[in-house]
Amino acid sequence: MTADDFPRFPEGFFFGAATASYQIEGAHDADGRGPSIWDTYCREPGRVLNGDTGDVACDHYHRYLEDVALLAGLGVDSYRFSVAWPRVQPEGSGPANAAGLDFYDRLVDELLAVGIAPAATLYHWDLPQALEDRGGWRVRETAERFAEYTGLVVARLGDRVDRWITLNEPFCTAFVGYAIGRHAPGAREGRGALAAAHHLLVGHGLAVRALRAAGADEVGIALNPDRLVPATAAPTDLMAVRRAETLHNEVWLDPLFAGRYPAFEAQTWGEMADGSYREDGDLAIIGEPLDFVGVNYYRPTTIVDAPYADPDPATRTAVDIRTAETMRDDVRRTTMGWPVVPESFTELLTDLVRRYPTLPPVVITENGSAEADVVSQSGQVHDSDRVAYLRDHLAAVSAAIDAGVDVRGYYVWSLLDNFEWAFGYERRFGLVRVDYDTLQRLPKDSYRWYRDMIEHHRKETTP
Ligand code: FCB
Repeated sequence: MTADDFPRFPEGFFFGAATASYQIEGAHDADGRGPSIWDTYCREPGRVLNGDTGDVACDHYHRYLEDVALLAGLGVDSYRFSVAWPRVQPEGSGPANAAGLDFYDRLVDELLAVGIAPAATLYHWDLPQALEDRGGWRVRETAERFAEYTGLVVARLGDRVDRWITLNEPFCTAFVGYAIGRHAPGAREGRGALAAAHHLLVGHGLAVRALRAAGADEVGIALNPDRLVPATAAPTDLMAVRRAETLHNEVWLDPLFAGRYPAFEAQTWGEMADGSYREDGDLAIIGEPLDFVGVNYYRPTTIVDAPYADPDPATRTAVDIRTAETMRDDVRRTTMGWPVVPESFTELLTDLVRRYPTLPPVVITENGSAEADVVSQSGQVHDSDRVAYLRDHLAAVSAAIDAGVDVRGYYVWSLLDNFEWAFGYERRFGLVRVDYDTLQRLPKDSYRWYRDMIEHHRKETTP
């Protein structure tokens, strides 16, 4: 691959790499960390592939110096990590556990020492178990606790962290965690998920206020808006897409960026959605202005009309919206089974701006691919599929910028191979391979490609 293959970006566009606490840190009981819902979920038989847990993960907690050196070698402008709430408040409330915050303090200082801007996500899914025991995101109290926790973190790191992300993919927390149970806490509760979605948004808004009160610089949220495509042109499939738009996209985007609850929610949820968890004034909290919206993108989703999962209206839950998701199979798929369709990334971005004219600037907070990496005889990982994925998706972002979308930066998912939630360690997204027996790090070809691309961009844009 030559420099001609490198996509072009405007001057000032920034590049980064992203990770999340539970996926890399390990040290699950070090320095007073309390259990999170993922510690609990991983210990329940059958939940996570191979019974894997995040107990050790990449042991980043103890190896962060080596990992920051890898980031420095990549030449990224910024590193997106997440703060583990149960390190800061082991019981989910009360004063900060200083030893837990110390870790992030050391990490941030080390990043700054090598010239990398820290970007902190406050919630990447590791809720303190103590809060789940009190109702988790089903209850409003968790939103209030989240703002309190945010205040503790920003008080300690706010003088050095200038980019903040409140929540990562609240869609997954609410619907994967509380509706279908494939993420922690593993609940299958229908309505519980709608209340959770709302409380996540309220928690986000309250956290934005806490960040602003502390003088935080740049504040945003990381969403995973979906590019939803009907399986056929049949009216039934088109109607299914309409319902899926509410579930996947409008639940989040409408209150955040259009000052309203989703327009079609009655048609989507039916009369079962009573909205009793909403309070006057919530839209104002949720709609607090943001400096950027984070977009995580991996693949488009094909939607088919489907029968209700539960045929009995008496027991059917409010998130049984009669759609099925499939993945196209006419293109290459990654080891997640996700189809590789870079142009749908461009479409997603241009469509977002069209639908939400007041959308703040966009930061790509995640994008990357899981591949069947092999270590060659000479000890290298020639992950050409990942390189092609990154090249084509960065080109798709560049095309969106050319089409007028204000995209400011891009974080690749992920710096390291890591704990991929319900798939455990079986799926590898890293630019750096992690040998889970020795915990050794091995930069892959994609690491060198991304490094060269960033370097090329700097040369091209520095006057
Ligand atoms: C996203 C998550 C991230 C990672 C990627 C592959 O949904 O935010 O933690 O697991 O998917």
